[in-house]
Amino acid sequence: MSFVAMTYCQGSWCLLPLLLLFTIWEAGSGQLHYSVPEEAKHGTFVGRIAQDLGLELAELVPRLFRVASKDRGDLLEVNLQNGILFVNSRIDREALCGRSLECSIHLEVIVDRPLQVFHVEVEVRDINDNPPVFPLREQKLLIYESKQPDSRFPLEGASDADIGENAVLVYRLSQNEYFSLESPTNSKQTKRPSLILKKTLDREKTPELNLLLTASDGGKPELTGTVQLWVRVLDVNDNDPEFDHLEYKVRIMENAANETLVIKLNATDQDEGVNGQLEYSLMSIKPSGRSLFTLDENNGELRVNGTLDYEANKFYEIEVLATDKGNPPMVGHCTVSVEILDINDNAPEVTLTSLSLPVREDAQPNTVIALISVSDLDSGVNGQVTCSLTPNVPFKIVSTFKNYYSLVLDSSLDRERVPAYDLLVTARDGGSPSLWTTAIDRVEVIEIHEGVSRHIYRK
Ligand SMILES: *[C@@H]1O[C@H](CO)[C@@H](O)[C@H](O)[C@H]1NC(C)=O
Ligand SMILES: *[C@@H]1O[C@H](CO)[C@@H](O)[C@H](O)[C@H]1NC(C)=O
Ligand SMILES: *[C@@H]1O[C@H](CO)[C@@H](O)[C@H](O)[C@H]1NC(C)=O
Repeated sequence: MSFVAMTYCQGSWCLLPLLLLFTIWEAGSGQLHYSVPEEAKHGTFVGRIAQDLGLELAELVPRLFRVASKDRGDLLEVNLQNGILFVNSRIDREALCGRSLECSIHLEVIVDRPLQVFHVEVEVRDINDNPPVFPLREQKLLIYESKQPDSRFPLEGASDADIGENAVLVYRLSQNEYFSLESPTNSKQTKRPSLILKKTLDREKTPELNLLLTASDGGKPELTGTVQLWVRVLDVNDNDPEFDHLEYKVRIMENAANETLVIKLNATDQDEGVNGQLEYSLMSIKPSGRSLFTLDENNGELRVNGTLDYEANKFYEIEVLATDKGNPPMVGHCTVSVEILDINDNAPEVTLTSLSLPVREDAQPNTVIALISVSDLDSGVNGQVTCSLTPNVPFKIVSTFKNYYSLVLDSSLDRERVPAYDLLVTARDGGSPSLWTTAIDRVEVIEIHEGVSRHIYRK
């Protein structure tokens, strides 16, 4: 057995041998072993083949020293001057042997006179010349936002054409909130890495994620390959439609025209597609039994339908629903409180009740001639009524209670001068503009023992 190792030394510095060279002469098998790394440059030293076979340099040419190799003729060659086997052309281990662990070139060395045949085995060692490669540059994953944590999503793994440590892959996932990486393990027989969901996804917050998966091999230095993971989060109908407010307060005049817009409601739903498409509907209107409002199911416009009347009802409470078109649908609701505002649309009413008619000429001041009562259906100042009487007559109006008055004699009468009075009672409300009603009371003055007559006109 002979052993040759070559190092190049200069002073105390030794260049690590580019090639770890050794030869083993196995006497029994008669075989010579060399080793060369793949991709070595042209002219790289492989071994002193002539010497190691025990041949003299001088006899190489005369004995027709030649090297034969099945299929691999030109990869290695021998210099007949110095008997050195060297690399002639590029040796690619992967092209030569694929992924098999053993890779060597078999040489047959022949000399004549006498004929001798030697067998030489040159091992081609792997260097880390292949990076891990993913089948695609980008991988898409569609994941429903309803997926439970710990769900697993298998990925395409990378492959590495090298062997041994140079092909041992370690996977890394870019930093992110939602996924961790489960690397393939030898025991599990799965070569695929998988994403594991760490926490629940929410499409409304994170509709998509871009992750980077990196595979590194075990070579020194290591080589890496990457694949872009594009995760699209699919929507499920998990959001209620929501109105901007739970309650809306609106005021509207009672004389609002038919179809007047009361309020435009707007609900939003964060879901996507039909899960976020809304339809509005009226759930109830209180007081019930009224269809005084309509709601457009598409645009949420609440409008007056018909004629409002403050005097009939001052306040409505309307429950509105917004329903999405998901399956199953989700519902949001709100309340619209509609306050009807009074306008001065009712004139006061006056009622006259005459008492002592006709009036005796000798009647005393403060004699009550008639009772007056007024009323107004409107509210507030629109319903506040004041009463007045034609000026310059010997009568006056005295308030007896809210909205009740008496028409009383103010001074003495003289039938010979004025036999009868047409008294105009005006009831006027405080609205602006105000409305009023008048009543005429004809008062005749009689002499004692004369006949009686009485007239009341109302306008
Ligand atoms: C509803 O409100 C949202 C914003 O709050 C707005 O983007 C949308 O256009 C509104 N829709 C309608 C119909 O007004
Ligand atoms: C609108 O009012 C009319 C009566 O004026 C009624 O027949 C109709 O049903 C109402 N519309 C709605 C949508 O309530
Ligand atoms: C109000 O308008 C609606 C819709 O146009 C109509 O059906 C209804 O008859 C109208 N009501 C009145 C009192 O005009």
